[in-house]
Formats: sequence, structure tokens, C-alpha cells
Amino acid sequence: MVPLKRRKLGSSHTGNAGTNSGDEVKFPQVVLFLLERKMGASRRAFLSQLGRKKGFQVQELFSEIVTHVICENNSGEEVRTWLDSQASSRPGAHLLDISWYTESMRAGQPVEILDRHKLQQELQISEAEVIMFSVPSYACQRRTSLENHNTPLTEALSLLAENAELSEDDGRGVAFRRAAAVLKALPSPVTSMSQLKGLPCLGEHSLRVIKDILENGSSIEVESTKNSERYNALKVLTGIFGVGSKTAERWIRAGIHSLHQLQDSGQTLNRAQQAGLEHYDDINQPVTKAEADVIGEIVEKAVVSVLPGAQIVLTGGFRRGKLTGHDVDFLITHPEEGREVGLMSKVVSWLESKGFLLYQKTTRNSYLESKDGPGRPASNIDRFERCFSIFKLAKEKETRTKDPQEVTENRVSAETDQNPNSDKLMNKQTDTPWRAVRVDLVVSPISQFAFALLGWTGSKLFERELRRWAGHERSMSLSSHALFDNKKGRYLRASSEEEIFAHLGLEFILPSERNA
Ligand code: CTP
Ligand code: MN
Ligand code: MN
Repeated sequence: MVPLKRRKLGSSHTGNAGTNSGDEVKFPQVVLFLLERKMGASRRAFLSQLGRKKGFQVQELFSEIVTHVICENNSGEEVRTWLDSQASSRPGAHLLDISWYTESMRAGQPVEILDRHKLQQELQISEAEVIMFSVPSYACQRRTSLENHNTPLTEALSLLAENAELSEDDGRGVAFRRAAAVLKALPSPVTSMSQLKGLPCLGEHSLRVIKDILENGSSIEVESTKNSERYNALKVLTGIFGVGSKTAERWIRAGIHSLHQLQDSGQTLNRAQQAGLEHYDDINQPVTKAEADVIGEIVEKAVVSVLPGAQIVLTGGFRRGKLTGHDVDFLITHPEEGREVGLMSKVVSWLESKGFLLYQKTTRNSYLESKDGPGRPASNIDRFERCFSIFKLAKEKETRTKDPQEVTENRVSAETDQNPNSDKLMNKQTDTPWRAVRVDLVVSPISQFAFALLGWTGSKLFERELRRWAGHERSMSLSSHALFDNKKGRYLRASSEEEIFAHLGLEFILPSERNA
């Protein structure tokens, strides 16, 4: 190593220390130094060589004789920090972007220093150019389409939300869901943390995850969660219909992490769980819109057969425009109040008699306005007559050849009835001509239909935010049955979703824009 003093001396004498002295110096007042940081050593060497060939003095080492510091992809702040760490520097040395250098190379002489060449200036400009976002704080005030511009971030936060929910930490789950929902609503990709200033619902933890992904391309927390034995066991076990996070947690504590371990453990399973285990692969395979439509035809046929004039609508994710779902959700009503009473059991009987149901559990309507009314806030859990079921759906080949008008009997039922507990389990590939599909049916009286439709369309976060908005901002209680105005002490009627949004003082949001 050459001592610092000699190095400096040498450079001030030659003005060209450590460089190819064979090149003529055309611009003695201009002494350049190219910062290697972010530019890289080989690009720096190449550009330095080019400059010297054109008669510029390009220093290998930094010192106080340097008049122009050339940087690439560094902010003014970063270069200041670097300069401050140097032994000495020339006061008033220019801090310039590489664009000044390349333009000067092209011109064959130092070009005039314009504002856009200056690093400080560049920093100010780029800060002004940074798109700052602004979104309202409740998801029900925003339009959230299915596609978003920040999927690496929203998927990471959703995974952490899911992990928190599976771990019974609902508070943290909602916090991550809200943070993900804010990013879903942004009009373009986030590129820097500074763009997120002032955005709602981004807590410290979520911001840390976002920062990691923006800076390193991934988050250690997300990656380690994704690969953790616990998360994966919770996913596998709660993938069984009828198994919630509490049950899964209990099984994991008993050393059960897989379906095989569960089967070998001799744990007693309820009826739903038995059906869930039996149809595990099918139920964990996404349902397509085409399959949902076929099921819609079957349910419609059932409904009008047992009560002419009754109507069904597709709700849940498919109403929001999703192309696949984990189940298919339907809402059933009749335009004459009261005619819907007892409808569910008739529909279920019809479906069962035709061999369409592999499993069903029906619960009665327990909602009574007089009981659930003024005195108490509307519960989140609704009490419609409803049916959680597993459908036996003929596979595409069969359904395509089948005329929907001819849906009267499940044509695959006979074959499989001969073979009730067939080899359909987990990884065993099956060649059955049908698949199992989760279907939710809900019956609502026409007077509550708009509330039921709004409540069953989702997304879950959108629904939660609607209720939070109603309570916190309007002093109202919203459920899938009714809207109660706590200040006026009365129910607010509505026969459409639009009217409910209007009662709440919210702009109407289309179902396809409720994908928060
Ligand atoms: N819902 C409800 N009570 C339940 C289950 C669901 O009110 N016990 C509502 C949810 O709030 C949601 C809608 O029913 O608004 C649909 O729920 P779900 O089928 O779980 O979710 P989807 O949004 O349809 O998503 P996917 O496509 O995965 O089914
Ligand atoms: Mn659904
Ligand atoms: Mn559902």
C-alpha cells in the first residue's frame, strides 16, 4: 500500500494518478472520480478508460483535487454519506449523475452542468416523481378488483394472515388482512417505502415485511412460515372439511401432522370430518366457474321443483367474479314473504333422492327480529336456514354431454352407489366419473334478501369492514339479516344492496369490486 500522503502528492502533481499517462489531458481544470458503489468495478474501469481516451482526467483514487464525482444509481444522501467518510474532499465538488459523464463523452468535452445532472437535484426530482398513494381507511370505501398491482406483497401478507388465523390469533390475522387489502387497492406497484407514507392499516409488522420484499425480493418471516412444519400441518389438517384450527392444533399436539398419521391415530371423527377425509382430494381441488354453473342448474331445478316461483342466486366468490373457489355458495328466496319457510328441507330431500348429495347438514333459521332486535347488536353469525353440503358432481365429460334441461337424476349415482367407500382417499388417484364439491345453501325471506345477498357475497374482509364502518362511523348494526340504526332506535329497510350502501352513507361498490 502506498501511504496516503504520497498518494495524494502524486495525484496533485500528475493530475492523473494511477491512470494511463499516455493519454493527452485536454481539460486540466476538470478532475473526475467515478464512484464504484452500485456502478460496479468492471463498468467503472471501462468508463474510466473511455474518459481518459477522450482527454479527461479520471482519478483512480479519491482526493481533494477531484472536482466532479460521478455516480450511478446513488441518491444524493448516499453519496454525501460516502463523502463524509473520506479523509478529505474539495468543498463544492460537483456530485453528478452518470448522465453528465456519458453526455460529455458523447460531446467530446465536459458539457454544461444542468439541474438534471446534479445529484441533489435529481433526488428532489425523483422524490417529486414518486407516486404517493392515498386510500380511504375502510375496505368498504374502496373498489378492489380481483387483480392487483402488488401480488408479491399481498400474497406474502395474506400468507401471514392465514398463519395467524390458523394459530387462533385473529387480531394479527385481521391486521395482516387489512394491510394486504390496502395494497390491493393501489393503482400501481409499490417501488419504495416512501410511497407508503400516510397509508392506513399498515402496521409496523406489515411494513417490515413489505420493506424486506422491496429490498431483498423476499421476506425471511414469510419464507420460514411457508416452510414451517407447523404451518404445513395446520394447512393439511384444516383442509379436511369439518376440521377447524382448534381441532388441528389439538391433533398436532398429539403428534399428528399428516392425513396418514391421523388415520393411524384412531382419533374419533365426526360425520362431517369423515366425509371431509373421504373426499379430501376433491374438496381441496378448486371448483371452476363451469362446475359452479352446472351445480347452479341442479340447485335451481331442485328449488323450482319443490316451490315454483322460488329463486336462487350465486353468491360468495363466484359472484365477485372469481374464476375458481373452495366451494359454491347459493342464496335462495321466494318473492312472497313466508313461502320460503320449510323450503330447505324440501330442496335437500329432492337433491338426496336424486343422488346429488354425498353429505349434508342443515340448520334451522333461528333469527327472530323481535328477539335479536333493538336491545342487542346484530351478531356477525347469521341464523338463516342453511345447508353445508358436499355435492357429487359428474365430471366435465359427463356434464357436457348432459342437457341441463335433463337434470333430473344424477347419472353417476348408480355406479358409485355400488362402491360407496371407494378408493377415493388422499393421494390415491381415482377414475371415478364424478368429483366431490363443497356447496353452501342459504334460504332467506324476501324481506331480508338484500342483507343476505350483501352478507354472503363477501369477501370476508369486505364484510367485516362494512360492519365496522356501520358501527364506528354510523352507529348502526349491520348483519346478514338487517340494519339497525342505534340512534334512531329502528330498523332500516332495504330491498337492494344499493339501498343498504345508501343507508350506510357509502358509495355503491359492485360485487366485482369487493375483492378486498
Ligand atoms: N359466510 C358467513 N357465514 C359463514 C361462512 C361464510 O356469513 N359461516 C359468508 C362470508 O362472510 C362470505 C361468504 O359467506 O361473505 C362466502 O364465504 P366463503 O364461501 O367462505 O368464501 P368465498 O368468498 O366464497 O371464497 P371461496 O371462493 O374460496 O369460496
Ligand atoms: Mn365460497
Ligand atoms: Mn361458503
